[in-house]
Amino acid sequence: MVALFDPLMLGALDLPNRIVMAPLTRARAGREGVPNELMAAYYGQRASSGLIISEATGISREGLGWPNAPGLWSEAQVDGWKLVTKAVHDRGGRIVAQLWHMGRLVHPLVSGMEPVSSSATTAPDYAHTYEGKKPYVEARAATHDDLRRIVGDYARAARNAIAAGFDGVQVHGANGYLVDQFLRDGANFRTDDYGGPIDQRVRFMSDVLEAVGGTIGMDRVGIRFSPNIYSQGVEDTYPIALFEAVARRLEELKVPWIELREPRHPTSAGAIPTEPVSPAMRLLYSGSIVINSDYDWADAWERVGAGHADAVSIGRLFIANPDLVKRIALGFPLNEGDSSTYYSGGASGYVDYPTLEEARAA
Ligand SMILES: Cc1cc2nc3c(=O)[nH]c(=O)nc-3n(C[C@H](O)[C@H](O)[C@H](O)COP(=O)(O)O)c2cc1C
Repeated sequence: MVALFDPLMLGALDLPNRIVMAPLTRARAGREGVPNELMAAYYGQRASSGLIISEATGISREGLGWPNAPGLWSEAQVDGWKLVTKAVHDRGGRIVAQLWHMGRLVHPLVSGMEPVSSSATTAPDYAHTYEGKKPYVEARAATHDDLRRIVGDYARAARNAIAAGFDGVQVHGANGYLVDQFLRDGANFRTDDYGGPIDQRVRFMSDVLEAVGGTIGMDRVGIRFSPNIYSQGVEDTYPIALFEAVARRLEELKVPWIELREPRHPTSAGAIPTEPVSPAMRLLYSGSIVINSDYDWADAWERVGAGHADAVSIGRLFIANPDLVKRIALGFPLNEGDSSTYYSGGASGYVDYPTLEEARAA
């Protein structure tokens, strides 16, 4: 039986334990999306996790709609990320970059551009912008030229990630962003070979993975999905059949690992329209599965121990506990997180959560 503290290979990545830090947007990179020393300190503090998945990182100006989130398209951004990857590596850790195109969830007030998606649709609810929350605007449907350009942007971001010292990348295919907008029939109404039947809706994801894998080697590539939660208006009529097709394609492409944001019960992520898809994917996909959402350490032990997943990724508990791995290993109490500082900018609620030793010394 495997345990949380057994090592794990995810393709070329050699993890010393199976507690992964989930991707967490923290909005500290400024308007130009350039990582800095503060971010290096934050990630360095969390280097004892088996693997850090970076906060979602824009592949292009067009694809980034979250105020003060980082990017990976400019030289300054690559240089900024070098501070972060060095801080993590100096402390013995590993880190991959989560590559992000938000599609219709990009507001022009943040990108300065018209949003693009699988189809001409408008996301529900409101966008975070520099001028407060604003209703989303209608995206235009991507042309084939757009798709070639965007796939190229993913490849460039992956190349930049390696240049910045990342150990690999994770394509963000979850939470209703661009890849998800192509996968699901609730947002993809295309009539060309990127829409319609499931096998065509997986084509964009497949193009992105081929381009990224072809650029940096598929053994350094993973992808994240959120198959069974409400995803910013992006849902599917037949999620099990869709994610079975996804699993088959990932197997053909030899993608070594996936992360599934797949809560078992109604949770922070809201309603759960369908059952977990991971059991069905497990039968068709031989890579590793990292499972996420609303796990505490008891759940994490149980799911990995029972073979439902190979590793667990943890989000909010990592925000409040830089030494979460040690606290889980020793069964020590956890710091409470403060959600008002998730996206507030600055050091407060970011790099000032105490480790066990610091808490004891205080
Ligand atoms: C502050 C915050 C920022 C997040 N940012 C991202 C992100 O950048 N990319 C992503 O895929 N998910 C993001 N998520 C979702 C988390 O990765 C994770 O799926 C969620 O918090 C549930 O896991 P948990 O219960 O362990 O926190 C974010 C969640 C929170 C609370």
